[in-house]
Amino acid sequence: MKPVQVGLLGLGTVGGGTVNVLKRNADEIARRAGRGIEVTHAAARDISKQRICDTSGIQLTTDPFEVVSNPEVQIIVELIGGDSLAYELVIKAIENGKHVVTANKALIAKHGNEIFAAAQKKGVMVAFEAAVAGGIPIIKAIREGLAGNEIQWLAGIINGTGNFILTEMRDKGRDFDDVLKEAQALGYAEADPTFDVEGIDAAHKLTILASIAFGIPLQFDAAYTEGITKITRDDVGYAEQLGYRIKHLGIAKRTQSGIELRVHPTLIPERRLIANVDGVMNAVLVMGDAVGPTLYYGAGAGDEPTASAVVADIVDVVRVLTSDPENRVPHLAFQPDALSDTPILSMNDVETAYYLRMQASDKPGVLADVTRILGDQGISIEAIIQKEPAPDMENASVIMLTHKVQEQKMNDAIAQIETLDTIHDKVTRIRVETLSAN
Ligand code: HSE
Repeated sequence: MKPVQVGLLGLGTVGGGTVNVLKRNADEIARRAGRGIEVTHAAARDISKQRICDTSGIQLTTDPFEVVSNPEVQIIVELIGGDSLAYELVIKAIENGKHVVTANKALIAKHGNEIFAAAQKKGVMVAFEAAVAGGIPIIKAIREGLAGNEIQWLAGIINGTGNFILTEMRDKGRDFDDVLKEAQALGYAEADPTFDVEGIDAAHKLTILASIAFGIPLQFDAAYTEGITKITRDDVGYAEQLGYRIKHLGIAKRTQSGIELRVHPTLIPERRLIANVDGVMNAVLVMGDAVGPTLYYGAGAGDEPTASAVVADIVDVVRVLTSDPENRVPHLAFQPDALSDTPILSMNDVETAYYLRMQASDKPGVLADVTRILGDQGISIEAIIQKEPAPDMENASVIMLTHKVQEQKMNDAIAQIETLDTIHDKVTRIRVETLSAN
């Protein structure tokens, strides 16, 4: 049988990796897919540029619309990123009856509902394994491997750049800005690194995971997003003294009143496996009611790890090219007419435990004032550390761990604590999750 012809949009890091993997493993891939797969067309902004892959045999163009309109191309692989041109191209490809494979998390998180509806109408597939956690097959694991479970919650380290920064701060006592510069130089960071450090990239990925875990439409705008830019070396050190690590987590949780969808720095017990996922590696912990906790670990970025996911999606598409569109695995794991309208909870309604750090005058009665305010809000304290002021300083650092409480109550308590004359500057607040099976 004639090989399936693939058109690539974007020949950068992941595009180059995809060409290399498809060529190097062509025989193994054909044995799996049932026929050969060839990249025959590719669009790139600069076709004369030096590449990490051999482009001989590939028809190159600077016009990506030429590729999506080419009648010989059956599968479009979108690797240009962003959600404007990529959106237009993907919609055009679907209109032209082509299957689409994409690594574009922003595109799926923001426009996925519309894209999947268009694809369903046209009877084509849109596969997006590479959009979340690079090479880790987490979409397939949740959508297919855990299909018998009611998913209760998931928590993931789904941005390699942020994890690299936090790891270096902890291991080497380095400052945030210094590590971010290195992450950019190493090519881990997004084109706009605020997407990494402010949690936007992780929120794109979390939106996708929550949708396939709970059978809800994609709702990126409802996700709470908080970055890691305010985490200090002191916080990393105090967390360690308390037996915790600080990780930038994406958390999606089913509760009785709705779904929590939040990205923020989080203290997690250092004995958890996921607390030991360091550097640019990603990991996603998924709790199913039948299976219990399951953990998926691997490279979340990079040319060949991401290509691994892209190529797996291409193989999936090739395997079902001739199947009845009605009988394929649904894009968002649940049948499109069976998605639920369970609300996403506001952050004020989320319940979690907290780490608090404040600068307090070194005088009698200060701690009593703080604990009274917390007590009035029904917040109980699990641990307190007080650090004597440095010889040339007047204020002591007070660090507290609290039990779980509704976020609104904690916000009210912090606002009151900050009005005390004896408390200086803002109170640092970091959420704490035990990630335990119960
Ligand atoms: N900037 C992303 C990260 C790339 O650091 O994880 C992979 O999505």
